[in-house]
Order: sequence, then structure tokens, then C-alpha cells
Amino acid sequence: MIPTIAPAPPPTGLSRYMDRRNFLRSSTFITGGSLLLLTSKSAIAQQSAPGRTIKCALVGCGAQGDRLRNAAAKGLGKGMIQWVAVCDIWEYSRRKIRGAMLGESKHQIDGDVKVYEDIHEMLEKEPTIEAVFIATPDFLHASQSRLCLEKGKAVYCEKMMSNTIEGARDMVKAQQQTGLIFQIGHQRHSNPRYIHLRDKIIKEGMLGRVTHCYGQWNRGVSASAPLGKVKGYDIPQDVLTKNGYASFEEFRNWRFFSKYGAGPISDLGAHQIDMFNWMYDALPTSVMATGGVDYYDGTNGRAKFEEPDNVMALYEYKLPSGAMRAYYQVLTTTGSQGYFEKHMGVDGTALISESPSYNQLYAEPSVDWDKFASSSPPTIVKPSEAVKNKFWEHDRSWEKPRPGSFAVTSLAKAVADVRESKPLVPWELPVVLNVPPHAPHMKNFIEAVQTNNYKHLTCPVEMAFQCAVTVFAARESLLTGMKVVFKPSDFQV
Ligand SMILES: NC(=O)c1ccc[n+]([C@@H]2O[C@H](COP(=O)([O-])OP(=O)(O)OC[C@H]3O[C@@H](n4cnc5c(N)ncnc54)[C@H](O)[C@@H]3O)[C@@H](O)[C@H]2O)c1
Repeated sequence: MIPTIAPAPPPTGLSRYMDRRNFLRSSTFITGGSLLLLTSKSAIAQQSAPGRTIKCALVGCGAQGDRLRNAAAKGLGKGMIQWVAVCDIWEYSRRKIRGAMLGESKHQIDGDVKVYEDIHEMLEKEPTIEAVFIATPDFLHASQSRLCLEKGKAVYCEKMMSNTIEGARDMVKAQQQTGLIFQIGHQRHSNPRYIHLRDKIIKEGMLGRVTHCYGQWNRGVSASAPLGKVKGYDIPQDVLTKNGYASFEEFRNWRFFSKYGAGPISDLGAHQIDMFNWMYDALPTSVMATGGVDYYDGTNGRAKFEEPDNVMALYEYKLPSGAMRAYYQVLTTTGSQGYFEKHMGVDGTALISESPSYNQLYAEPSVDWDKFASSSPPTIVKPSEAVKNKFWEHDRSWEKPRPGSFAVTSLAKAVADVRESKPLVPWELPVVLNVPPHAPHMKNFIEAVQTNNYKHLTCPVEMAFQCAVTVFAARESLLTGMKVVFKPSDFQV
């Protein structure tokens, strides 16, 4: 249940979600409650040789671990990485992923893929590991990534950085203390379609002054239903208890419980709210949010979750061009129109998603974008037939201005147009991503490890921290019913 919190005085910073007790509780699963001593930097992690094979391990072999495996197999060049070990507390996950990795032997230089249940044991017994991919539930990220960094490994850790701001802050500190390569899995930062939109369209001013952004990730209830047991692969309760999980149901639905995750606003907002910051190289000034456990309330046979399943958040930015507002919603009660982000300026609008079917640009009727299509290479192209949402083709004959009416006189130019706007002119981004969406981000990480170049990373941990602050503040606003006003220091460690 979401605690009912009476309106409180406005938060002075972000203290409400800086939950030190939660963070310490999750850390103890790794450290056993004692402080780890810093080890010296690993020699292998500091070698610089572009193109060399990096020996990697995967910790967390669930849905996302498998996506990372698949992206490495299909999207990274041969010999870029070699999986030497996988680690998961669930035998089902680790066996399945190891089998798939061995099946992709063309990406294995030689040798086996060892399986481990315990990350400490894996790091102890596999000293050749140079880089660790972490795809476990969010509450483990801070302690597991610190452990790997302190053992001298480069780390690629999945988003959201942590389920608490304090956990996220400690991850930045761990990088600062070890100086090692540490990438967070906000993979849009390395996606050439997103980079094209940011660098060639938004930064070049094609959309004109952007006053509004919109993002949504809507999922139907079936996609969020509690997952059942896997026949023949029960995970004993003592293994779950040892690793901090109260029950199998919580273990499988960890996102919706505050102890392990921070709900869909963090899970999915991590990708899309991040894009409001990243596209404009800006940080918000405030956020106001509402939402709640609207569906998964334990009634009528439905699961009972703690974290809000439906959230709506409004961010305010002060860009050099003026105010910009960004609206974000995450719904788990309808999959209507899927997931995308939209950037709306006075000259045009851009619609983009990691799903390539959202790839539209619309010029306002008064703006001519032809020159951008004829540049070499073209910044935009004519829309393909396959484009979804062709709203510009809808018949609008029902409300044509009458000749001689006020709206079409020359005087009308001086006032805001109150009629329905003319249809916009459709275009498309010319960039296509032919590999799984995580591949460019993993490649960026591996290149940074190969060359020992932290600056090469497209999402270093301190950048991801700003995203975590931005997202967690929406949750804070929702819980307190108050607007959260950011201070610049909130975004610093
Ligand atoms: N970048 C993306 O697009 C993206 C997409 C989905 C998920 N994710 C992130 O990936 C992470 C994992 O999400 P998921 O959907 O794969 O969850 P999941 O529940 O499917 O998988 C988690 C795996 O971690 C294992 N695990 C749990 N505790 C462990 C421990 N102490 N040590 C080792 N293994 C442990 C579980 O057994 C399970 O196999 C999350 O942080 C999530 O936010 C990122």
C-alpha cells in the first residue's frame, strides 16, 4: 500500500527519498554489514588497446540479462567480448543463459562459461574478468557495482541506478574512489536515431523554440500480471531469504515493491524522463506528480503491489530559449499507443521511440523544411508508407474558414489563430538502427574499457545520477502531494 501522507510543508530538498536505512539494508546483502576495503585498481582494467577482446561476466540472467546477451551476439563485432562467467541466484536463469551463450560460440574465443550463484565467489574464482554487466533488481545495483569496482572491474550496470537516491549517490562515489569505467544502461544515449534527433534537429533549432515535451509508456494489465513459477525450477525459499526476498511473488514482481525497486515511474521513466534532460542538456526546476495503486490493489484476485501503477508527472525547465514543460505518464492499465517521446516546438514536432515505428517529424505549415531534405546527407526524409499514425491524412473538410471571415483577413495575422490549425507536413528521420537497441550502448562501454577512456562513455554514472534525481523527485511529489522544487545541489554528489 502507498502510505497516505497528509500535505506536508514543501520539501526543502530531496530528503524524503534519501532513505539511508533502505540503502544500508540492501547493502548488507553484499557486504555482510561490514565495510569493504578498497582494493588497488586492477592492472587488466587499465590496459589500453583498441579492439582487444574484453572478458566479461553477467550478473542477473533474467529478462534484461538475456537481452544484453542477445545484443552482444547480434550487435557487437566478433571477438569484442568473451563471456567467461554468469551469476544468478536462480538456477533456471543462469543455466538458460549459459546455454544460449555457448550456442553463440562464434562470439566465444575459447573456453567455457562458468556459472555461479554468488557474486563474491565468481569474482574470487574468475580473476580474468575485466568487465561486469549487472542486470539484477535495482536494490542490488549499488552494492554489487561497488563490489565489482573495488575488485578492479569495469562495470556496466542497468538502469535505474538504484531504488534509493542514496544508493545512486554511492555508485557515483564508488566510481570516483576507484577511477574505473562505469556506464549506466540508459541505452538511448548511444542510439544513433536519438543522437541524430538531438544533434541534427533539436540542437540545430529545426523545431524552433521547444515549449513542450511529452513522454509515455503505456502497458496493458496482461503485461504486468504476476509471473508464475517455472516448472521444474523452483527457487528454494531459503535462497530467496538469504538474498533478501520475502517471497517468490516479490522476487518475480520486485519492481512494484519499495524494498527492491521504485515502481514503473522509475523502471520506465528512467528511460524517457531522462530524455527530457539529455535532449536539451538541461535539468528541471520543479516537478509535480500524481498517481497511485489504481489497479493492483489486491482486490478481485489481482496482485497487491506497493508502488504506484499509474503515474503522471509534470516537469518544468528553464531553457535559454524560455520555459519548457514536460509531461510524462506511465500507465499499467492500458497499452494504448505504446511508448514514445514527443518534442514540440513552434516550427515543428518530433516523435521518437526506441521502437522504430515511431519516427515522425512534422513541420508547421508556415515552415519550409525542404532544404533539410536536400542536404547531403539529408537531415530528414519523406515519410515512408509504413508510417503509423497518419493523422495528417484525416479529412478536415468539416471546418473550413469562410472567405472574408475575420480569421482570414490581414488583421488576423496579428492575433493568435483560434481555428483548428492547418495540417502539419510529415517527414521522417533518415537513421535506421539495424542491431538490437542495447548493442550500441554496450559497444560504447566496451570501447571505453578497451581504451581505458572514461570520457568515451555516453552515460557515465554521474550523468545517470542526474536522471535518478529527476525521476525520484516525481515519486516524492506523488507521495507528499507537493511540488518538488530542485536546487542545483540536488544533482551533485
Ligand atoms: N535497459 C533496459 O532497457 C532495461 C529493460 C528491462 C530491465 N532493465 C533493468 O535490468 C535489471 C533486471 O531487470 P529484469 O527485467 O531482467 O528482471 P528479472 O527479474 O527478469 O531478472 C533479474 C534476475 O536477477 C536475478 N537475481 C536476483 N537477485 C540476485 C542476486 N543477488 N545475485 C544474482 N542474481 C540475482 C534473478 O534471479 C533474475 O534472474 C533491472 O535493473 C531493470 O531495471 C533494463
